[in-house]
Amino acid sequence: MAFSCVVGLQWGDEAKGKIVDVLSPKHQYVVRFNGGANAGHTVKFEGKTFKLSILPTGILCPNATAVVGNGVVIYPPRILEELAQLTEGGVSGKERLLISSSAHVIFPYHFEQERLSESDRGSTEAIGTTGRGIGPCYEDKAGRRWAIRMVDLLDKAVLLAKLIPVVDRKNRIFRALDPNAKQFDANDLANEFSAYGDILRENIRDTQVIMSDCAGKNIGVLFEAAQGSLLDIDHGSYPYVTSSNSSAAGIWSGSGFPASRLTQTYGIVKAYTTRVGGGPMPTELLDGPEGLGERIRRIGREYGTVTGRPRRVGWLDAVALKHTANLNDANVLCLMLLDVLSGLEELKIAISYELDGKEVVGFPSDAAMLGRCKPVYETLPGWSEDITTARKPSDLPAAALAYIRRVEQLVGRPVGVVSVGPDRCQTIWMNGGNGA
Ligand code: IMP
Repeated sequence: MAFSCVVGLQWGDEAKGKIVDVLSPKHQYVVRFNGGANAGHTVKFEGKTFKLSILPTGILCPNATAVVGNGVVIYPPRILEELAQLTEGGVSGKERLLISSSAHVIFPYHFEQERLSESDRGSTEAIGTTGRGIGPCYEDKAGRRWAIRMVDLLDKAVLLAKLIPVVDRKNRIFRALDPNAKQFDANDLANEFSAYGDILRENIRDTQVIMSDCAGKNIGVLFEAAQGSLLDIDHGSYPYVTSSNSSAAGIWSGSGFPASRLTQTYGIVKAYTTRVGGGPMPTELLDGPEGLGERIRRIGREYGTVTGRPRRVGWLDAVALKHTANLNDANVLCLMLLDVLSGLEELKIAISYELDGKEVVGFPSDAAMLGRCKPVYETLPGWSEDITTARKPSDLPAAALAYIRRVEQLVGRPVGVVSVGPDRCQTIWMNGGNGA
């Protein structure tokens, strides 16, 4: 039985949802282990469109049990909205959802805290966060004084006792930072959030025990990472990262599943690079409204699912990819959105970085240093053919195959899957694979 993980190898938005959709029927459990509603997945299922951000996308697979692990930070109204969306779309969800009792809760004061913190950093230093309260909630978790977990929503008296000192301190800090900052009321929050606890009571469980059980009994589990590995708090372009381990490193801590048991790690890679928010991106195309960057953005519909922001676009960065593929020990690469590159005369891949005239070894962990790195490019011929109807490797033009083979060589890992469009059928299994 497979213990698989789908993880992004870039700065998020690698189209992980499509691979999850293909893989989830082969697993009994689908698990989110990091992040929260900062992720955004638009998933088409049986002709209907669902916008999920906190529930695992695998919940759309009718036989799977969905788990929101302890490493996720949860804004409960968002879970309820997503469950309502599923019901409206004719998909059962609530009865197949387990939420870790140890997952931390995002309250409205976390949104205000994030707003104050980002405006305090100013426009040049702002991280460009999604405004979903993610960072402040993880700060409270790590700080251990002001944190509230899902289990606390199950008893209103306990919740209120915890909220009173937290809200008092947050209100005072917010006022000190901005006299017009929003203020919060512990009683109102306790009423509202204990009501969410009541609705979700049956779903809130010790999910770590369930994960151990799956490992012990060989019950298949699929882990869905949110964001991309370059946004990982420990291994990404710090401090322009998210506040969780968005690489496979987060599985063990964020779900309790012994990650030593993983059998397959799918590293999801867009055929070019995108990034939303601030921070360095060595291969970014800054060539104006008529340039290639804009063309790729338009064809690839590169706008944030959560915030609608235009994504920054650039060439494929093999230096960054090698770093994240190794970090995750990805045994298969899935090369997504290859069709977006059709029609370009030539394509570039960054094969190394230079800093002050010298080649840089590895991927710099310091954002300031990364920001000063200049990519060294290799140029490959493009292809003019529309590849959206290709279904097997031999349907692809020679230049597209050469591009895929070069990615494999540079990253040192096989490309097992190539995606040439959003539809499930627009998936090419390479190297004799068929997804079975
Ligand atoms: P936060 O996760 O909202 O704190 O944002 C931190 C950084 O991660 C910002 O640059 C965001 O744009 C980025 N980010 C967070 N979630 C995603 C995602 O799902 N896709 C791409 N970027 C993301």
